[in-house]
Parts: sequence; structure tokens; C-alpha cells
Amino acid sequence: MQFDQSLLDTLKNAGHVCVFTGAGVSAESGIPTFRDALVGLWARFDPAALATREAFKRDPALVWGWYEWRRMLVCNARSNAAHRAIAELSTIVPKLTLVTQNVDDLHERAGSFEVIHLHGSLNKPRCFACARFAVDPLPPPDEPIHGRHLEPPRCSHCGGKLRPGVVWFGESLPTEPLAQSFAAAKDCDVLLSVGTSGVVEPAAQIPDIAWRAGATVVHINPDAKCVRNAREFWLDGRASDVLPQLLKKGFKSEKVL
Ligand code: OAD
Repeated sequence: MQFDQSLLDTLKNAGHVCVFTGAGVSAESGIPTFRDALVGLWARFDPAALATREAFKRDPALVWGWYEWRRMLVCNARSNAAHRAIAELSTIVPKLTLVTQNVDDLHERAGSFEVIHLHGSLNKPRCFACARFAVDPLPPPDEPIHGRHLEPPRCSHCGGKLRPGVVWFGESLPTEPLAQSFAAAKDCDVLLSVGTSGVVEPAAQIPDIAWRAGATVVHINPDAKCVRNAREFWLDGRASDVLPQLLKKGFKSEKVL
């Protein structure tokens, strides 16, 4: 892949890199995205029936079973070259902030630390009644059968039903992670937006915040759009192909004097 020379020069001199990831970064680990035609989760399932508070109130076993199926997919998956390139990048640049919309733990399993999870985590359920996070870790998920009803476990504090620890439609994002993400976007020199459709607010603002604060914004996505602005690049390709090359040709190559 050929990269713009001005982009490579910018990468070489970056002090603070913010990496903002979406479902596309885990796609090659076999985790379905949300909005890709046919295979995306929201092309196959109704979010109103599975990813809202009302859905859980109506049928907690359906919702818990669906998220257990997703947790099973993640448990059986492995991180891919894109997750690993991002973990490696944190050892190369002076400062890296990793912000993800993903509820899987594939960044952590690839070696990234201090991952900011904007939309929560499949592994951190909390109580639907008292909102406390579960103390005990979830056991490994059972059979990977979607559509199966599973009764949610109970909260050890109040006996309420545990709900998946993810942000549902109509809910606010966790305050501190959102503030940290916006602050990193304002502060960074380079923002890499990897594998996201960029349509879900408020996370979708992150590349724009970075761009308006003067950063160079690089989108990595096989569904590339045209360049709209100066300091904005669209790299057309899969994250696991593009990121390792970007590391080699940009961040890792000799510093510009
Ligand atoms: P989407 O499914 O909306 O977008 C995934 C993006 O990844 C698309 O733009 C694809 O073109 C791109 N893509 C697919 N394969 C790729 C690959 N191998 N390499 C790079 N890019 C690839 O997923 P998100 O943008 O993450 O919210 O969706 C945002 C939020 O919407 C999710 O966090 C979820 C969902 O509702 C919650 O769960 C709260």
C-alpha cells in the first residue's frame, strides 16, 4: 500500500497518538460488526428487542442469552494483527491513548493496557436493580447457541437480576471514560479511527474533536470515503493489513530530523 509522504512525516513526529476503534478492528477475529450488510448484528437482529432497558424488562432471559452468545464468540476468538499492531504502537510513540467502542477484550488480550471502553464490556455485568457491578467474574460462557433463553444470574448484594455491562440504546455513556476520550482527542497530534462507521453519538464526535483541535485524522476502513479536509486521510483496507504497514512505514521508520 502506498501512503502519502506528508502523512508518513506526520506519523514519524507524533507525540500523542489517540487510537479510536470500532467493530471493524475485531471483524477479522470473527466477531460480527453491527452495520455491515447481511453479516452485521443489526442487519440480523432487532436492537429494540435486545439492546434496550425495555427489552431486558420484557424478556431478561432472551437478552441475557443473546449477550452470552456474543460473549461465547469473543471467548473463542483471538486477537488479530490489527489489535497487535495497536499494542505495539504504544511501545513506539511517546504517548498513546486507546479508546474503543467495542465490548470485547481483544485489545487487552493483544497486550494493550488502560483501554478506555466507551460502551462497556461483556465481561462486567451489573445489577439491573441496584446498578452495582458484579463482584464475582462470570464463568466461561456455555454453548454458543443464539436465540437460547438464559436466566440472568442474581446480584450478590440485592438479589436483583444481573444485566450485561454494556451501554444500551437510550443510555448515557460512562462519564469518566467519555471525558478522558474527549480530552485525549483534543490533546493528540494524530488520531487513528479504525473500523468504525462513525454514526453512533457521542463517540462519533471523537475524530471531529481531534481534527478541530489541529490533529491529523486517519480513517482505516475498507469502506473508504473521499477525503473531505486537509489533515484528513482515508486508508482503504482491512485494519489487519493497513495498521502493520502504517507502523512499519510511518511510526517505526527513522525519525525526521
Ligand atoms: P459498525 O458495524 O457500525 O461499523 C463497522 C465498520 O467497520 C464499518 O464502517 C466497516 O466498513 C468497517 N470494517 C469492516 N471490516 C473491517 C476491517 N477488517 N477492517 C477495518 N474496518 C472494517 O460498528 P461500530 O462503528 O463499532 O454500540 O458501531 C458503533 C456502535 O454501534 C457499537 O459500539 C455498538 C453499535 O450499536 C453499542 O453496543 C452501545
